[in-house]
Amino acid sequence: MPGVFQLSPDELVLEALQAYELGVPAVLLFGIPERKDDKASGAYAKNGLVQQSVRRLKKEIPDLLVITDVCLCEYMIHGHCGRIQASDRSGRVLNDATLELLARTALSHVEAGADLVAPSDMMDGRVRAIREHLDRHGFSETPIMSYAAKFASAFYGPFREAAESAPRFGDRRSYQMDPANAEEALREVALDIREGADIVMVKPALAYLDVLYRVKAEFGYPTAAYAVSGEYSMVKAAAEKGWVDERAILLESHLAMRRAGADILITYAAKDMARWLK
Ligand code: PBG
Ligand code: ZN
Repeated sequence: MPGVFQLSPDELVLEALQAYELGVPAVLLFGIPERKDDKASGAYAKNGLVQQSVRRLKKEIPDLLVITDVCLCEYMIHGHCGRIQASDRSGRVLNDATLELLARTALSHVEAGADLVAPSDMMDGRVRAIREHLDRHGFSETPIMSYAAKFASAFYGPFREAAESAPRFGDRRSYQMDPANAEEALREVALDIREGADIVMVKPALAYLDVLYRVKAEFGYPTAAYAVSGEYSMVKAAAEKGWVDERAILLESHLAMRRAGADILITYAAKDMARWLK
């Protein structure tokens, strides 16, 4: 993925400090463990990579908001976001058996100091499971940003390569949403809000501006748009060829996300745009 790298906790602090000094208010962390297994042990390990990194970041840059992506795919040997029956190669996840692992993962991030957790797995009921688990452990004030309308999209390709999280078999269509179905997206958002989400997200962004607009209009809730790896990589590639003006294209497309209703932008262009907007 162009311009995006895997970082050690040390490198992460430097990178985050640069972003913070440019005026970027928050970072979203993803972890890539040394070893993967079929229970995603690395996701909720007390001293996992994300947990360590959160501690470091909150110590070195206390005012930078630290958000953690809560999912299991980077930690699972099969690359799926949930548990899978041992012999099953269809890509169907064991939804309810996954919730407990997600809740443990979220709690481990919050115990390390995360300000906000962002479940991206798309299991049904995970917002409630995480909310209850955090509340039980004394973290009732920690908000949840749910990937509420997350579509089964080809735009995630470069991320999966960068994060080593592509599924080994099957695909994610049994838990991510059908790109043709905007009504279902609205129902999913309604459910996540009912389960206790504090911020709802639409993802990808540019190809789903209609969904973003409808989510903001219908619920009036704090709404985030995630400009994903494929959107970013396409602009980078075209700019490298001299076919488009990278700065103008990125500013215009992120402006469109704001216009459509996004209060929050999650984007790989954050540092560049902060520089340009200064
Ligand atoms: C994993 C996850 C993905 C992204 C964020 N969290 C990939 C996927 O669902 O396959 C995509 C991010 C991007 O493409 O920038 N749950
Ligand atoms: Zn995942």
